[in-house]
Amino acid sequence: MVFEIKAYERKIFNLLSEAALEINAPTYIVGGYVRDRLLGRSCKDLDVVCVGSGIELAEAFAKKLKPVPRLVTYARFGTAMLKHKDLEIEFVGARRESYRADSRKPAVEEGTLEDDQNRRDFTINALAISVNKQDFGAIIDPFNGLADLAKKRIVTPLNPLSTFSDDPLRMLRAIRFASQLNFKIDPVTFEGIQSMAPRLSIISKERIASEINKIILSNKPSRGFLLLDEANLLKQFFPELTALKGVEIREKIAHKDNFLHTLEVLDNVARNSDNLWLRWAAIMHDVGKASAKRFHEGQGWTFHGHEVVSARLVPKVFKRLKLPLDHKMKYTQKIVALHHRPISLTKENISDSAIRRLLFDAGDELDDLMLLCKADITSKNKEKKERFIRNYEYVSEKLKELEEKDKIRNWQPPISGEMIMEYFEIKPSKEVGYIKVAIREAILDGLISNEYEAAFEFMKEKGAEILR
Ligand code: CTP
Repeated sequence: MVFEIKAYERKIFNLLSEAALEINAPTYIVGGYVRDRLLGRSCKDLDVVCVGSGIELAEAFAKKLKPVPRLVTYARFGTAMLKHKDLEIEFVGARRESYRADSRKPAVEEGTLEDDQNRRDFTINALAISVNKQDFGAIIDPFNGLADLAKKRIVTPLNPLSTFSDDPLRMLRAIRFASQLNFKIDPVTFEGIQSMAPRLSIISKERIASEINKIILSNKPSRGFLLLDEANLLKQFFPELTALKGVEIREKIAHKDNFLHTLEVLDNVARNSDNLWLRWAAIMHDVGKASAKRFHEGQGWTFHGHEVVSARLVPKVFKRLKLPLDHKMKYTQKIVALHHRPISLTKENISDSAIRRLLFDAGDELDDLMLLCKADITSKNKEKKERFIRNYEYVSEKLKELEEKDKIRNWQPPISGEMIMEYFEIKPSKEVGYIKVAIREAILDGLISNEYEAAFEFMKEKGAEILR
């Protein structure tokens, strides 16, 4: 079969072909680029393998481009990389690899194209396209990867036990591809993952997190998480999530399975937002439920304060998975901490001050928070679900009304610390802070209006009291 080379690729492929001829090294496009192009997905990483020196090929190729791009070479690994337009092109010589049981680092030797294809993780990733003159554009498919692409099947080219033992990250990759591409994992390959699952322990948390993030960013991330769980991988790096599994029944009262609920919420968020950290907030929003769970005789289950516990777990899980601990974590944590607030407001207790506080506390994150809250309504009871949605819409409406009226979101109280110090002729001190907070609270509670005059009068009174 011949690969249909698009116009934008032709120039690159032709130049690769010329460079290959020049250094006399048969050259092929391999891996993810071939897979993604055949699936009609866009791909910015182009991996080039030659039977010879990858660095020499890269040098010969780079000289043909105008302007000549900067070539980054890694002599130790025999690889080279350059950027051309929006493509990142990597060059390597064909390799044969052998692994030892106690390490992920393979012993690498020069090899043939066949050796190189043999060492790859899945049949759909072991396809190669020739750019050599005699068979330019031919697809070399030793493991029926084309058929597996058509059947939407993830399967290892060789015995799954050795493929996964060679690099246990591939277990996560299998699940990531299944989730990303909506493919099925071949049963024998999946059994291989299940029996090799403990080997994940030798993989760094960074590499694990990178695959997990790709699962989270897929259209229906629950697919990946259910597979991770079934494969006994999830509990190894995310026990807080698997702790939510299952349903307990007492006095014939059951609570919902919070693991499945979480995945449903995650899918709901994924349908409406590509924001990775909002999706993380969905994953983390109920993790505190495992320890906040209580049974009250004659009444049923409660999870009071679970949002506080969940929010506390966010930095812990992020740290373990080497996820960023900067504003992204803070954003996730904030949404998790607030996720129960809008829903817990009901027509009976929805005061202007509660709404104002929510606006103030959520600030810029209000829209994302509300998106998560809506996604959190998963009740299977039609009547209950409708009631929750009505309530959600009522709260949203009130938020909008009050926001227009009071402009509380991202709001700064009208009296600053400097004004307080100047009026009372005092130096920076904790009393200045007390007065500032008192003004803010009075505005949020609706005791005074959100205006300079009212706040100034209040400051005079309250300040005199505090400084007495
Ligand atoms: N590969 C492998 N085992 C791994 C990682 C990669 O066999 N643990 C091989 C596969 O043939 C893969 C190629 O190296 O197609 C390139 O790997 P990489 O760029 O990491 O992944 P892609 O398959 O290109 O997919 P993506 O870009 O979506 O990560």
